[in-house]
Amino acid sequence: MGSRIIGTGRGLPSASLSNQDLERLLDTSDEWIRSRTGIGSRYLMRTGESLLDIAHEASRRALDKAGMKPGELDAIIAGTVSSEYAFPSFACQVQRMLGVTSIPAFDVAAACSGFVFALSVADNSMRAGVWKKVLVIGADALSTMVDWGDRRTAVLFGDGAGAAVMINEAGPRGVINTLLRSAGEAWELLSLRATGIRASADSELRRDPVDTLKMRGPELFKIAVKSMADITRQVAEQAGVSLNDVSIIIPHQANIRILNAVAERLGIPTEKVFINLDRYGNTSAASVPIALDEALEAGRFGDNDLVLLNACGGGLTWGASLLRW
Ligand SMILES: CC(C)(COP(=O)(O)OP(=O)(O)OC[C@H]1O[C@@H](n2cnc3c(N)ncnc32)[C@H](O)[C@@H]1OP(=O)(O)O)[C@@H](O)C(=O)NCCC(=O)NCCS
Repeated sequence: MGSRIIGTGRGLPSASLSNQDLERLLDTSDEWIRSRTGIGSRYLMRTGESLLDIAHEASRRALDKAGMKPGELDAIIAGTVSSEYAFPSFACQVQRMLGVTSIPAFDVAAACSGFVFALSVADNSMRAGVWKKVLVIGADALSTMVDWGDRRTAVLFGDGAGAAVMINEAGPRGVINTLLRSAGEAWELLSLRATGIRASADSELRRDPVDTLKMRGPELFKIAVKSMADITRQVAEQAGVSLNDVSIIIPHQANIRILNAVAERLGIPTEKVFINLDRYGNTSAASVPIALDEALEAGRFGDNDLVLLNACGGGLTWGASLLRW
């Protein structure tokens, strides 16, 4: 028994902010952001917008594509670190919006690796025969938690949500192998204190700087390249699959230089790596499911193709999942 994704969807804030727009807010330039990160614009939550609405939209779209009613679901798992409530979980709040009762709904906190971790929890439970139909969400709004005076971090993040509907299925298609890793000893490289204040770019409200996202970018960069490359190689090797046979890699979109360096280490042509961070920035747990949904919509892969998802983020956490679509 295994699990297979049968529907994907994405949701985004209404407004996109370009690098030129950011030049008006911060001491930065389009040239610096593009050349150092590959980002050109990002969707940012505005005052009054809710990440829940965005995740709800992504979930409805995934369910529609799966041809499934919310009431058929056996569980909802959300990879997120952006819930406005410590409890109820983000997943419970989406559950209510979907009008579903009496199924388990819970969050997985693995920062930018959140979707891959949540997918693995869903896959393992379905392999064990616990659930048959699961909604997996990746949603984050880190732009509301950065220091808008800190150009080193404020330009990097975007907001959004992606979702996937998975079913329990025997046969060759679906999740083949997933590997997850964490390195708690290095958590200070990327961290965010929990606090209720959300301060979008356009709001007058500002977080106390000690409560904003902290990142040691250059150190993280090196770890991100090594961990993403290693886990990608391992997940394929363990499954007895050559990376040459993988049709597409859908990575967490943090920085184009990280993605190029990972491809180079693995000897993979960059055309095989799906990139959309130029339009989204780093959307944390939402980045892999948004990219998956876009790549699928663009016809970048099809039935029976090998698709590899990988991510790394705060925790530190990293992981990869190999799927036969
Ligand atoms: C954040 C990151 C893009 C910074 O790039 P970098 O080349 O390492 O840049 P540095 O932080 O060393 O800064 C280099 C210079 O650019 C400047 N700079 C930083 N951000 C800038 C910005 N937005 N605009 C203009 N200049 C900027 C710095 O002030 C510094 O100038 P200085 O040398 O005069 O002090 C890069 O380190 C990175 O992507 N790291 C990994 C991030 C990551 O993966 N995060 C999430 C994992 S999920």
